[in-house]
Amino acid sequence: MACLNAKLLFSFLLVFLPTFTVSTLLFQGFKWESWMKEGGFYNSLHNSIDDLSNSGITHIWLPPPSQSVSPEGYLPGKLYDLNSSKYGSETELKSLIAALKQKGIKAVADIVINHRTAERKDDHCGYCYFEGGTSDDRLDWDPSFICRGDTNYAGTGNPDTGEDYKPAPDIDHLNPRVQKELSEWMNWLKSEIGFSGWRFDFVRGYAASVTKSYVQNTSPDFAVGEKWDDMKYGGDGKLEYDQEEHRSGLKHWIEEGGGGVLTAFDFTTKGILQSAVGGELWRLKDSQGKPPGLIGIMPGNAVTFVDNHDTIRPNSWAFPSDKVLLGYVYILTHPGTPCIFYSHYIEWGLKDNISKLVAIRNRNGIGSTSSVMIKAAEAELYLAMIDEKVIMKIGPKLDIGTLVPPNFVLAYSGLDFAVWEKK
Ligand SMILES: *[C@@H]1O[C@H](CO)[C@@H](O)[C@H](O)[C@H]1NC(C)=O
Ligand SMILES: *[C@@H]1O[C@H](CO)[C@@H](O)[C@H](O)[C@H]1NC(C)=O
Repeated sequence: MACLNAKLLFSFLLVFLPTFTVSTLLFQGFKWESWMKEGGFYNSLHNSIDDLSNSGITHIWLPPPSQSVSPEGYLPGKLYDLNSSKYGSETELKSLIAALKQKGIKAVADIVINHRTAERKDDHCGYCYFEGGTSDDRLDWDPSFICRGDTNYAGTGNPDTGEDYKPAPDIDHLNPRVQKELSEWMNWLKSEIGFSGWRFDFVRGYAASVTKSYVQNTSPDFAVGEKWDDMKYGGDGKLEYDQEEHRSGLKHWIEEGGGGVLTAFDFTTKGILQSAVGGELWRLKDSQGKPPGLIGIMPGNAVTFVDNHDTIRPNSWAFPSDKVLLGYVYILTHPGTPCIFYSHYIEWGLKDNISKLVAIRNRNGIGSTSSVMIKAAEAELYLAMIDEKVIMKIGPKLDIGTLVPPNFVLAYSGLDFAVWEKK
């Protein structure tokens, strides 16, 4: 009898207990200069695994792993050669990924496939013979694998399906052998090295339908594309309010890329948010009353971020450094999949501040498709309620009247921000 009851109870629990799905939280695990790290970058990351796991990180984006002409990894050549990377050896990478996995963190590889550097020169086509980095002929390609009409390289393949990348030959992704061999290489990164997902570099360089094939052929559990388009600025050099075209470009790319697991970095939100925190918080509400970035129209496929390895560099497109935490208050309380940047977390001393915000996000079940009700968006105050569970405010204005009902309690606050939770 007792046994039967126990069995019944067990079945009951299986059927009726809510399945707790922790929502994806990405961490960009490196910055531009990371390859210079003494003792090896992969080795150094071991020191952060416990912190990242405690902070609720589910995925870490690692730098491009292959042999590359540039130390950062973005001019890769011998794709199977993971021993010539400035970040560390193949063995060190595998050990890092295994250690991350032990703590529940999956690794995302930076996939640089628009272009590829060649090993051997030919007088007619420049450097145009590729080597895969294996003893067989996988990824050993000739000029027929380079897009026809590529500047600087006399390729004879199909015309490019995207933008030309000047510093290296653009690969012809319409060539079936290219798709087959790159898919095999990515599947090898999964099965042999331990990666689970992809961050596609410079997806402006090839058609979204091409990304779709690679995703279909490799079934990642997470994929994000870097489609970094210019935003609209007025004659006065100020960002224009309406960035509809910018975010719909991202939306169309995701749709043409097959949607589903495929996401895009929300460059629209980044651009608007970093302008907004400078006393222009009215920017954070679009003409429909929704968030103005990709998260306002396609939150389930948007990866929000404050800065990355490129934007943080001098003369690039960095978030105002004294307002970075306000950026995290926004992205960590809002829909989309947030991406936390290496330098902010590890070097700027914001680890605890960011972790507190993540804790609020997770204990209130805020996820990529949570709802946002914007209650104020004026120069000095942005205030919004998320899922009717969390209210957040950024901006220096102190008088917020009755915007926060009495059944909400303060959970975390700091200079120019506050976050409340429902009692
Ligand atoms: C890289 O080093 C590992 C371990 O020594 C070895 O198994 C692997 O074959 C090497 N890869 C290449 C491309 O040399
Ligand atoms: C981050 O949190 C620490 C205390 O945990 C605090 O001293 C510091 O001022 C916070 N940083 C910002 C930018 O608010």
